[in-house]
Amino acid sequence: MCGIVGYIGKKQALPILLNGLKRLEYRGYDSAGVAVLNEGLFQTTRSVGKIDNLVAKMQDEKIGGASGINGTMGIAHTRWATHGGVTEENAHPHKDCTGNLMIVHNGIIENYRELKEDLGKKHEFKSQTDTEVLAHLIESLYKGDLRLAVEAALAKVRGTYGLVAMHASEPTKIVAARLGSPLVVGVGDKEYYVASDTSPMLAHTQQVIFLDDGEIAEISEHGVQIYNLADERLNKPSEKIDWDETTAERQGHDHFMLKEILDQPTVIKDALRGRLVESDGTARLGGLNMTEEEMHKIKRVILIACGTASYAALVGKYAFERLAGLPTTVEIASEFRYSDPVIDNHTLVFGISQSGETADTLAALREAKRKGAFVRGIVNVVGSTIARETDGGTYIHAGPELAVASTKAFMNMIGVLLMYALQFGRVNRLAVATGQRLVKAMLQISGKMKQTLELSDQIKILAKKYSGYKNYFFLGRGVNYPVALEGSLKLKECSYIHSEAYPGGEMKHGPIALLSPDFPVMAIMTKNQLYDKMRSNVEEIKARQAPLIIIATEGDDKAKELSEDVIYVPATMELLEPLINTIPLQLFAYHTAVMLGRDVDRPRNLAKSVTVE
Ligand code: M6R
Repeated sequence: MCGIVGYIGKKQALPILLNGLKRLEYRGYDSAGVAVLNEGLFQTTRSVGKIDNLVAKMQDEKIGGASGINGTMGIAHTRWATHGGVTEENAHPHKDCTGNLMIVHNGIIENYRELKEDLGKKHEFKSQTDTEVLAHLIESLYKGDLRLAVEAALAKVRGTYGLVAMHASEPTKIVAARLGSPLVVGVGDKEYYVASDTSPMLAHTQQVIFLDDGEIAEISEHGVQIYNLADERLNKPSEKIDWDETTAERQGHDHFMLKEILDQPTVIKDALRGRLVESDGTARLGGLNMTEEEMHKIKRVILIACGTASYAALVGKYAFERLAGLPTTVEIASEFRYSDPVIDNHTLVFGISQSGETADTLAALREAKRKGAFVRGIVNVVGSTIARETDGGTYIHAGPELAVASTKAFMNMIGVLLMYALQFGRVNRLAVATGQRLVKAMLQISGKMKQTLELSDQIKILAKKYSGYKNYFFLGRGVNYPVALEGSLKLKECSYIHSEAYPGGEMKHGPIALLSPDFPVMAIMTKNQLYDKMRSNVEEIKARQAPLIIIATEGDDKAKELSEDVIYVPATMELLEPLINTIPLQLFAYHTAVMLGRDVDRPRNLAKSVTVE
């Protein structure tokens, strides 16, 4: 989704803004723009496509090149189109009629048509965007104080915004406001940053202030002052975050996605560290914020998420039901928020999200909270909105995930869900010996993940062999059904190849009609309680001459009778299998996408952090 960067300080703003935009590229965008205040005038460049196009355009126009920009205050933006096509006119920053006001905006102004009508013919609109309407609205309310004009404008707005504005008459001030779209202010030494997340500022400062909904920051040489929409001054000190720039680097790998896949054995340890108690066969996640008495009262669990996080939640469902005997449902956030869920104060709701900013998940959690559930977050990004709005929860400690396709966050979400299920299990009914077995297996999982990653070369050869196919099925049963869903999503989003996932037993109820020698199937057939059932499904596929790639457990020689393409993975306890079996599927999607020349880290049309509905 759109990315925002702003800077005010002593240094040249332009390089900071452009580097900041680069850091936000992972979010997904289709155009970009920048405006710097230079001797009382804004110099603006906007362009369609990548940031490199923007830089090339500046060089053509001699902006930041031979003529140079000496401004120390500016804003920049990457746009992911919502209102209006992907054109230069629709790219941000947008200005008012006078050209003295510049804004960048992330979110959706729902009543922009009414506002535009109210503004009337006095204003000339150059784009189709809701953002430009906001610029003119602020212009109409400006009486010499930008913050007050922004506040007055926002009082008329319905919708969501992360907004940053500058006015040429106030050359040492930036105003930022947030409702529904994240904004963070970075506090340096007499210099300040504002951005959609912390990544553009990590090279400069780790002191940050996370704006909450309904807050406006006035950033100037006097520091950062935060107000609410009623214009009351708030006391909000900065805090230190522990991510630094090097954790957000590619570190020699061709793509972030590959780096993040290879990071998995390390980051899973970060998720488990200090949270498993071997002697008691349990886990202790302090963030749960519940007494044992409260835990006993929980009668059901709802896991709310979108996309990959929802597949991690499906694994969590098996774990909660098997270990803790708690009825558990997985709800897709965008559906849940508009449904009539039956929730009471015996319901525990977990919102699961890498970014912690997904608009649908956030709205669904607010709904659950309103209805009286215990609401907890399982989140990666520290200080993100879901992390702050839930009444507790756990960071998954996957570190910055910059490839749009989620990989390591999926694994760590599963790790944390397993620990929660274990903790509830041991409070409810699970025998210590069973808990201890699981803890032991979890402590060994990092080594097995590492071993599985060694299959990368074999999988690359398979990806080459199969890269000409246009359709795929991914099949799994039990805990491996979510793995199939995740493998299919990864292939789809990274390589643009059509693929669908089904539970193995569901094939014969319809999808089998599609099978032919042109329709390969990736079947997860590891040794667990459903092995024989899955094997029968695979036999049915073989009988239809569909090419088969089988994920099998090391030592299962019989798998070779079904296909010449078998990927052998190490054995582990059934509930932990997703942590192993997903790896070959991630690598298959990655190598296929690279082979097809796709933009692996930034697949078309996708955004990393989906902050609009
Ligand atoms: O940040 P979140 O985990 O809430 O994001 C949820 C989905 O948007 C995300 O998992 C999406 O499906 C990714 N493209 C998966 O690779």
